[in-house]
Amino acid sequence: MKVQVDRRDGLTAQADVTASGVFERAEKDDTFPRTLQKEDDATRGVIKAAWARKEIKGKRKELTVFHRPDGKGRIALIGLGPRGKFTADTVRRAAAEVVRGFKGKGARTVAYRLGTFVADNVRSEAAVAALTDGAVLGNYEFLKYKATSDGGFEEASIHLGEEFSRDEAALKKVSADQATLDDVVVWTRDIANLPADTASPERLAAEATALGKEFGLKVTVFDEKKLLELGCGGILAVGGGSAGHPPRMIVLEYPGGARRGRTVAVVGKGITFDSGGISIKPGLNMQDMKFDKSGAVAVLGILRAAATLKVPPRVIGVMCCAENVPSGTSYRPGDVVRSFNGKTIEIINTDAEGRVVLSDGLGYVVKQYRPDEVIDLATLTGAQVIALGDDCAGLVSNDDKLAEGLLNASAATGEPVWRMPLTDFHRELVKSDIADVRNSTDIPVAGMLTAAAFLESFVGGTAWAHLDIAGPAYTSAKTRKYQPAYQNIGATAFAVRLVTRYLETAPPRG
Ligand code: BES
Ligand code: ZN
Ligand code: ZN
Repeated sequence: MKVQVDRRDGLTAQADVTASGVFERAEKDDTFPRTLQKEDDATRGVIKAAWARKEIKGKRKELTVFHRPDGKGRIALIGLGPRGKFTADTVRRAAAEVVRGFKGKGARTVAYRLGTFVADNVRSEAAVAALTDGAVLGNYEFLKYKATSDGGFEEASIHLGEEFSRDEAALKKVSADQATLDDVVVWTRDIANLPADTASPERLAAEATALGKEFGLKVTVFDEKKLLELGCGGILAVGGGSAGHPPRMIVLEYPGGARRGRTVAVVGKGITFDSGGISIKPGLNMQDMKFDKSGAVAVLGILRAAATLKVPPRVIGVMCCAENVPSGTSYRPGDVVRSFNGKTIEIINTDAEGRVVLSDGLGYVVKQYRPDEVIDLATLTGAQVIALGDDCAGLVSNDDKLAEGLLNASAATGEPVWRMPLTDFHRELVKSDIADVRNSTDIPVAGMLTAAAFLESFVGGTAWAHLDIAGPAYTSAKTRKYQPAYQNIGATAFAVRLVTRYLETAPPRG
């Protein structure tokens, strides 16, 4: 989807849909909003009449459509909810709600009237970024395997009118930068949505290699032979059951923009399909386990965004890719595997495979690159979904500054994150009788945090943050109606905008 900004008022643009925001009105409030005068003129008083009979309440998600009598398209009023709760994310959601509302209704262009999406606490720049974000992401659909589709919108425009025309150049740049990042999110979603027969570890390696060529990034792919030489016993064990899709560890290096100095490593769980292995999962919703690669695919997206937007720090991406399936060559409960850093892992449950592959990636990157910070992204535990739900990721960190930076970025991008504690109780639970650590516990408590305690033992003293994205990585048909309209069914590419934002804004350490 193309997005453009111009200084017209939006109603003269003659888009298929002209969209304006409307705040929730108080029970007794009959004053017609001044911001909607042009809309009313274009419908020759029809909107005012609708307002007078209380057809328009301005509640969130309320979409009221008027057909222009001059035949020049439709006017859509999208509810913004109460003024007191208005944030940039309200705008992001509203922009997406409009786009979604017209799916399959023959609309190709949408024009947002900026003046109706701003308030004292959401100024023009934030509103333009949020409109861009919501329009592009809300319009996303995974179409690769569909013979027909309704096409969706081809173009969105944001109209400044007289009110904001002075800032045209600055607002054009805000929108263009946001659209660049959103294009990366769309690209990431397209890969994360691929099924496991296509998106094998080898295919993910090929995507990384192609990305490296396009942007001049160094990309190294470790195949089974190299993984054996390196001593990556975790990835080899987890991937050992798959006959057709052997494991890969992929390392991407972005050298850093203008202000060199800091190195941030981003490590992702890339299980292309998680059947549970020998500790096999129940069948219900197992198809969703194609999304168990979402952390690694997010790493790919973050590296693409870093290279496109030229973020200041040097960024090292590590994708730990394997298919977890049962067969005669699978790893088993009771096995002891040796991770890259020499630590031994007792396998209790082959379905707790994410932490096993990440142990190699984390151990490798901290030894090889000595990063200032390491962030891992993983659809790691069902316990995360139980604790925080489908929209909010769990954060565990040994470094307050890093955690705070990620929480600030999360607030800006509207990708919710909640920090959770890590205590000795959790650390005790992953101790093993016969190895250095075990990959599961004997009592079923704090599953998100015992997983984090396991990971912590592979980062040494490095400043580290773990994002468990099991819930937010994808949207299922069931949860979609509870999610913002910019999360369509399927992969969300959660954390790509958030971590990119962090890389763009976080101050150097020290
Ligand atoms: N990939 C799953 C976690 C998951 C669950 C992701 C639901 C997305 C949605 C992970 O590998 C897993 O199976 N974890 C187990 C760990 C347990 C065996 C210790 C879990 O959370 O049940
Ligand atoms: Zn699993
Ligand atoms: Zn998994």
